[in-house]
Amino acid sequence: MNANLFEDCIAAPAKINLALHVVGRQQDGYHLLESVAVFTERVADWLSVQPAVEDRLIVEGPFAAGVPTDHRNIVLRALVFTRGHARKAGVDVPPLLIRLTKMLPHGAGIGGGSADAAALLRHLGTLSPTLPETLAESAAELGADVPMCLHSRPLVARGIGEALEEISIKQMPAMLLVNPGRPVATPSVFGALQNRENAPLPTIPDNGFSSASDLLGWLRNTRNDLEETAKAIEPSIGEALAGLQRTGAAFARMSGSGSTVFGLYDNAHEAQDAAAAIVRDQPNWWVAVA
Ligand code: C5P
Repeated sequence: MNANLFEDCIAAPAKINLALHVVGRQQDGYHLLESVAVFTERVADWLSVQPAVEDRLIVEGPFAAGVPTDHRNIVLRALVFTRGHARKAGVDVPPLLIRLTKMLPHGAGIGGGSADAAALLRHLGTLSPTLPETLAESAAELGADVPMCLHSRPLVARGIGEALEEISIKQMPAMLLVNPGRPVATPSVFGALQNRENAPLPTIPDNGFSSASDLLGWLRNTRNDLEETAKAIEPSIGEALAGLQRTGAAFARMSGSGSTVFGLYDNAHEAQDAAAAIVRDQPNWWVAVA
């Protein structure tokens, strides 16, 4: 048994889709995407794993309200999924008490449950040398975003989100995340989408992006194809984007299927000032400098 199975601070970092192009649709209804995603270091949910007599999930923290603690929660599904794969690798995952501290809003387009599930997969993967690869190969069974959250480094995702290629971003602009407090259900956005066959991402330079301005220049030729539809469903997304623009963000866009939007700034000071201005204006919005 791995001595580190029981652990207090397992990070489930937020995922931000810097660009998200919808380029087609599969027969099963899932959409084909091309997306560049990055992960925050500090803006995260947190998990702790402790021994228990039977599996149990406790959800706490500022965004715990409304999060199920039974099998509907993807974290418990990820535990059962991992235990099954671990058994085949000859490893027993004992009953666990998982404490999930929800610091990230849900229905927010920044990973949420997928990030939580991926964090548990990443942690339990340490139980056997072969387990991480096995889990990565089948993580999409838990949800289309789980593979990218499991990877958790800058990447381009294709297919339904499961075909991953790491990219190098040497210098990220400072980023501010803003959520207007209204969750958006991903299926409702995909379901209402009008145009499902858009142009692919522009070519990503072979060596990735060597400066923040390279990345910004590239992003200006990309889109989030879910943004207009999500704004129509949840107008506060448009208000949050307008809020970012008023702060002088060099770039502002929605992440995933919303409702979180992100602003990019030249430096951390500007991002902090923008955060303060938005909090003054909208004290009930969630604002985080990433
Ligand atoms: O896989 P997951 O349960 O996270 O996806 C939630 C919903 O988002 C799916 O039921 C589907 O409606 C939509 N979706 C999609 N195409 C993707 C990813 C998600 O249509 N590539």
